[in-house]
Amino acid sequence: MTGSRTIPAPSSAPPSKQEIADLLTEARERTLLLISMLSDEDLHQQHDPLMSPIIWDVGHIAHFEELWLTQNLDGPIEFSEMPGLYNPFEHPRATRASLALPTLAEMMERLREIRGRVLDRLDSVEFDEANPLLREGYVYNMVLQHEYQHNETILQTLQLKKGDPYRAPRRASFAASALAWPEMVSFGGGRVSIGTRDHSAAYDNERPEHFIELPPFLVDRFPVSNAQYLEFIRNNGYEREEFWSDGGQRWLAESGAVTPKYWSRAGDGWITRTMDVERPLDLTRPVCHVCYYEAEAFAAWAGKRLPNEFEWEVAASWNPSTERAQSFPWGDAPADAHLANIDQLAFDTAPIGTFDRNVSPLGCYGMIGDVWEWTSSDFGPYPGFQSFPYKEYSEEFFGSDYKVLRGGSWATRPGAIRSTFRNWDYPIRRQIFSGFRCAQDA
Ligand code: AVJ
Ligand code: FE
Repeated sequence: MTGSRTIPAPSSAPPSKQEIADLLTEARERTLLLISMLSDEDLHQQHDPLMSPIIWDVGHIAHFEELWLTQNLDGPIEFSEMPGLYNPFEHPRATRASLALPTLAEMMERLREIRGRVLDRLDSVEFDEANPLLREGYVYNMVLQHEYQHNETILQTLQLKKGDPYRAPRRASFAASALAWPEMVSFGGGRVSIGTRDHSAAYDNERPEHFIELPPFLVDRFPVSNAQYLEFIRNNGYEREEFWSDGGQRWLAESGAVTPKYWSRAGDGWITRTMDVERPLDLTRPVCHVCYYEAEAFAAWAGKRLPNEFEWEVAASWNPSTERAQSFPWGDAPADAHLANIDQLAFDTAPIGTFDRNVSPLGCYGMIGDVWEWTSSDFGPYPGFQSFPYKEYSEEFFGSDYKVLRGGSWATRPGAIRSTFRNWDYPIRRQIFSGFRCAQDA
């Protein structure tokens, strides 16, 4: 085998202050665009016990920014989450509607005031390469990603919205596509790189980069479509215990689910809803809003299994000809809404195959965007993991309670997704924009 084993980390030049300021402005414009259609009542009510009132997310975004880009920049890190109203650990989501949350007008003033201090501080900040928080602009990227991630949380809430459905400020119209034929691609096995050495934007849970010996496997070329999932339903997939794990059977009994979330019956067929758009089930789009157990049961019915997160990462990013992992399926060019269905403004999944450059060297389509993909992996630390800069982002969640999801969804902002990005959630959750693809031993 040839090729260097240690690859340089992506560009380590710190971003300019102007670039940072522009990114902070852009992130806030997006947050405000998403909520621009909402009344104070919409913003303050608890639309679902799983989610925060949206005004809480907005305040939490602002106070997280204040904490990391003013207080923690100037001294030892005293708090990693701000004490008080917007501390997620002090106030579980289901209780947040009873907090004394400000009105939108008050919140706008708060946002303005905090952002003013953040930009003042940015003016005078010295990008001291000896300070790991500031090296390569890390803490600014962390705060940006935090806002991006809460945008996706807000979109989950908007999909659950009580009262009138959310009217998206815009929406994509995708051309119809042909049905994706179920096909698998193979990886012959071997030594591959997992994770990253990047310290400019990657989260601690993506590091360190390490090499593993991966057995050969097959993986679906496309995410599982609504057509395939419907076959599973029609084959009585939800009734046949043999496909469901113990946890899956428990979830099935408690939930009474017979379809993915947001499907409803229409005569002989099905209608799905995305925000305020209802349409007959589009067979050509990836299935969305399934929990881990549904993904696992489908895979068992199909005679397959879910990929583990290493197989997923290899399928998305391993380039056998260079023997290195790419930042994205298409290469190292930054993600944008032309390359994949990401960045929210489509407000929908796209028919499979719409983004023809969104294909990995191994030949897998749609690994970035559309739907987060469940993997069979528990969320845990990579060998040599070090918490940075705070335990409450990743380390607190390590263990067998959470399953790893990969690849981002249509509701994910480009700055918060890459081949090495790891998301996690409880295996029963399906208000998230989640689908999957299957794998098999080769
Ligand atoms: C990585 C999506 C599981 O929302 O709980 C936001 C992201 N962490 N604020 C979450 C996060 C802190 C996190 N997930
Ligand atoms: Fe947060």
